[in-house]
Amino acid sequence: MSVVIKSPDEIAIMREAGRLNAEVRKLLLDAIAPGVTGRELDELAKAEIAQRGATPTFVGYAPGGRPPYPGAICYSVNAQLVHGIPGDQPLQEGDIVSVDLGVTWRGYVSDAAFTAAVGEVPPEVRRLLERTQAAVHAGVEQALAGNRIGDISSAIGAVGHEEGYGIIREYGGHGVGRTMHEEPHIPNYGRPGVGHQLKPGMVVALEPMFSLGGEGTEEEADRWTVRMRDGSLCAHFEETVAVTEGGPEILTSMGRLDDAHEGAAAATTGGAA
Ligand code: MF3
Ligand code: CO
Repeated sequence: MSVVIKSPDEIAIMREAGRLNAEVRKLLLDAIAPGVTGRELDELAKAEIAQRGATPTFVGYAPGGRPPYPGAICYSVNAQLVHGIPGDQPLQEGDIVSVDLGVTWRGYVSDAAFTAAVGEVPPEVRRLLERTQAAVHAGVEQALAGNRIGDISSAIGAVGHEEGYGIIREYGGHGVGRTMHEEPHIPNYGRPGVGHQLKPGMVVALEPMFSLGGEGTEEEADRWTVRMRDGSLCAHFEETVAVTEGGPEILTSMGRLDDAHEGAAAATTGGAA
């Protein structure tokens, strides 16, 4: 299938899907603490998604003969990179945990993830999280109509390269819409000026994955969990981003939750503060 262009009405629904995703992700982020389990976070996600009348995108996802994915979230700890299945092992002080969430709303998917520290972690680990998140934003800045996928990929990869991180090549971002994974694939490394050209109405999930060690990954026995082959710590951040005439719009941004709604924010800016 080729790249799907969304109409402004479809983007409006995806904006709602993204906002629900941000709301639930924020609750998950706030719940992360020593002693908490993946299963508890997954149950929280399922309850909060249901309460909003939405659907957990990941539940039952079964590509290419894999067992159906059981969780609303992917929950990946320390050297686990992505697609970890939430279980009963409690988080410990000093862990890092990646939480990935898919929310389907009126037939459209939002896909986003963060990696968080559980209590105190060493400065180089904190920096890994900070720079991986920065790589999403470096990619977002390139998500402009007329640019190419390679512009996004190279901007993301450059952030990892500057830090000497392992840049994971076996997984990457993707188009997103009525289904979670649409064309095009978006590598987290590459050259500017190459690849599919971006147009208004494209919606993409950008998801850099960097490690403090090598780049190779392997699958655990559960057929889902992806971990670093060398056991190094790794981080993953993801946002769903719309390419619009007016520039990139991050549909899943947790930062946006503070603006009660955009009209109100605009009124405040224009009025006497
Ligand atoms: N953001 C992840 C991805 O695009 C979500 C995977 S969900 C799972 O690969 F169900 F496949 F685990
Ligand atoms: Co994704």
